[in-house]
Amino acid sequence: MRIGVIGAGYVGLTTAACFAHLGHRVTCADVDGAKIEALSAGEVSLLEPGLPELVAEGLAGGRLEFVLGNALSDVDFTFVCVPTPEGPDGAADLTAVNEVLGRAVPTVVLKSTVPVGTGAGHPGVVSNPEFLREGHAVEDFLRPQRIVVGARDERDAREVAALYERTHAPVVLTDNTSAELVKYASNCFLALKLSYVNTLAELCDQLDADIDGVTEGMRLDDRIGGSCLAPGPGWGGSCLPKDTLALLATARDAGVDFATLEAAITTNRGRPHHVVGAVRAELGTLAGRRIAVLGLAFKAGTNDLRDSPALTVADLLAGEGAELVAYDPCVTAELPGITVVGSAAEAATGADALVVLTEWPEFAELDWPDLAGRVRRPLIVDTRRVVPEDKVTQAGFRLVRS
Ligand SMILES: NC(=O)c1ccc[n+]([C@@H]2O[C@H](COP(=O)([O-])OP(=O)(O)OC[C@H]3O[C@@H](n4cnc5c(N)ncnc54)[C@H](O)[C@@H]3O)[C@@H](O)[C@H]2O)c1
Repeated sequence: MRIGVIGAGYVGLTTAACFAHLGHRVTCADVDGAKIEALSAGEVSLLEPGLPELVAEGLAGGRLEFVLGNALSDVDFTFVCVPTPEGPDGAADLTAVNEVLGRAVPTVVLKSTVPVGTGAGHPGVVSNPEFLREGHAVEDFLRPQRIVVGARDERDAREVAALYERTHAPVVLTDNTSAELVKYASNCFLALKLSYVNTLAELCDQLDADIDGVTEGMRLDDRIGGSCLAPGPGWGGSCLPKDTLALLATARDAGVDFATLEAAITTNRGRPHHVVGAVRAELGTLAGRRIAVLGLAFKAGTNDLRDSPALTVADLLAGEGAELVAYDPCVTAELPGITVVGSAAEAATGADALVVLTEWPEFAELDWPDLAGRVRRPLIVDTRRVVPEDKVTQAGFRLVRS
């Protein structure tokens, strides 16, 4: 099939490269000229295992091309993969989607996460939400746990589902509105789970219980499931914050009181303050303290900083007068108010506290005796429970898990 993809970000580029790998002919368009130039030369800036290889394979095989713009002709399907950021009232901003929908060639497939009801408002549009996780985008696209396709006409839905035949994934065929709701319902459920476990971790602290033991006991129950049970500084990234607000706005408009979702959002807003409180409690004051921030990305395995709780914590620390030096294995960007350095050792030098904010596996393997020799005060506040307690205490650190 000839597939067009509009938007060459995490979702669009993955969709384009993977469909080319599955044997389709794909043209991927984006309004960012520099991005199109780089991709046409096989340069992929996203940190996604396997993606550069699939882009190279598609380009070399003539099954994948990149073009500048936001419209395509001569394609059988146009997949819309443009951003849907949070609007001023929490609802998703559809400016880019509407711009593309007005010009797209049928069959149009909405992969962007769009407000429930968007597809139904455009006759002929097929809703096919994307569930990939950043850092696992290719794996998730080629071996998805499910393909969800919603359309008014079941034949349209079946045609789109057939494009994924080689992934052998279970397919859910439904209407547009339900397909769109599956996406929000899934992301918001994960947010609920994470907020629940984050509060549970606070309760464990008060009760002198071990959250790791508690979640280990929970995750063996397959009604609960094993993922999203690790406490942290709050959920973030490009999807959960905006999708929770968008579903809340949808519920509000529909006259439904979604109190559980509201509570999950409120809990999450409190998490960075909880972390800062833990650091302040150790140091007395944050003013003039040098803090080594370990991890900036919103989760391990990606260099995406969008809505990263690490940045929220850093902002709050800086707001109380702390000096911030940060290290993240995959982030080199310049950030306002933070000095980003090239190693954990550099960040730790002269620090009053090491604050671990992303669960990078390499943070479990740091040279603790060396770091202990560099810091001004041997304190680690670990929000991700990644630091090995025995090794850091042996090296002389005080370890606080927040
Ligand atoms: N990132 C994820 O993990 C993920 C997962 C599932 C669904 N989604 C959803 O997919 C959509 C895209 O997210 P993303 O993370 O890939 O975004 P992104 O920001 O990584 O990429 C979007 C791309 O679209 C381009 N673009 C913007 N406006 C355009 C236009 N009018 N015409 C053509 N190109 C345009 C941008 O230049 C950019 O390259 C969003 O609705 C998001 O909620 C994202």
